[in-house]
Amino acid sequence: KKKHKAAVIGSGNWGSVAAKLVASNTLNLDSFHDEVRMWVFEETLPNDPDLEHAAEDANMLVFVTPHQFIEGICKRLVGKIKGDVEAISLIKGMEVKTGGPCMISSLINKQLGVNCCVLMGANIGDEIAMEKFSEATIGYREDKEVAQRWVQIFGTPYFRVSAVSCIEGVELCGTLKNVVAIAAGFVDGLEMGNNAKAAIMRIGLNEMKAFSKLMFPSVCDNTFLESCGIADLIITCLGGSNRKVADAFARSGGKRSFHELETELLQGQKLQGVKTTGEVYEVLCQREWQQSFPLFQTVHVICTGHLPPSAITQQRLYEN
Ligand code: NAD
Ligand code: 13P
Repeated sequence: KKKHKAAVIGSGNWGSVAAKLVASNTLNLDSFHDEVRMWVFEETLPNDPDLEHAAEDANMLVFVTPHQFIEGICKRLVGKIKGDVEAISLIKGMEVKTGGPCMISSLINKQLGVNCCVLMGANIGDEIAMEKFSEATIGYREDKEVAQRWVQIFGTPYFRVSAVSCIEGVELCGTLKNVVAIAAGFVDGLEMGNNAKAAIMRIGLNEMKAFSKLMFPSVCDNTFLESCGIADLIITCLGGSNRKVADAFARSGGKRSFHELETELLQGQKLQGVKTTGEVYEVLCQREWQQSFPLFQTVHVICTGHLPPSAITQQRLYEN
């Protein structure tokens, strides 16, 4: 029987841990090839041929890079991958064009012509690297068998994976929680207390749900109760990198730039939440939804320096 061969595109904080999970399973499961190639981005050689080499003979491609790089990566892979490839995206974010928003899994699907599942969840990479227990959610469109293959290749006793057919809901949860994490960081930086942070998380969850359902009416309520939903929201607001940078931004009174703080505090990791906040805001404007999303809108206005971080608990947030 044919063996499935996996490759991991990305080698950052989460990418390297994802590669470890995959490789530990392919070694032990007969239906998978032992070798798992991982593409490592080289700062000094941006167009090195290793990307094509990593992907060329794999039929299970795992995409796990900061979301702003995925379009360029896909462009390079067009025509360079096999015909029977299945993909999965671990990337939290979206792309917004003049024609509207595009989820990362759709972008991969459209550019490469491959089916693309998603894996999201309460997954701080450092903890999983130490094999501490966590859960994750795979979102798939139709093919449950393919989703089960991804569950097999990622799941371990310390990394419990389940699959749901609500792919848009899973991916939007992972994307939108990064906006709420920025808000939670402001609350922490201003030392507003845990009650305020819980309030921001509640309001944020409501906006995540409302935004997802407006974008895709088929999104299920239950998805928000999976690891990709409430659990990821909690972890990101407690211990994530977006929270950390937003905390420092608020402590500087909005004076230091996010770029400077990202470089100083994240050790090479890329900040996702501020870009996503801008992208979400663009969608709000394109669709004239601003009034329905006071938290998302306020986070953007603070990030762009038009209001101070203390505006995060302005009255209007509590009216819904
Ligand atoms: P990261 O933030 O550690 O990414 C930095 C990586 O990006 C580096 O390896 C760098 O070499 C690479 N890079 C820099 N410039 C590049 C370019 N021009 N093209 C391609 N690559 C470039 O990445 P990560 O933590 O693996 O995150 C990837 C995705 O996974 C993100 O969407 C993130 O939200 C998500 N995620 C992260 C975690 C986590 O704990 N870090 C957990 C769950 C999900
Ligand atoms: P940060 O991106 O805020 O570090 O959170 C990581 C994450 O996505 C946890 O699931």
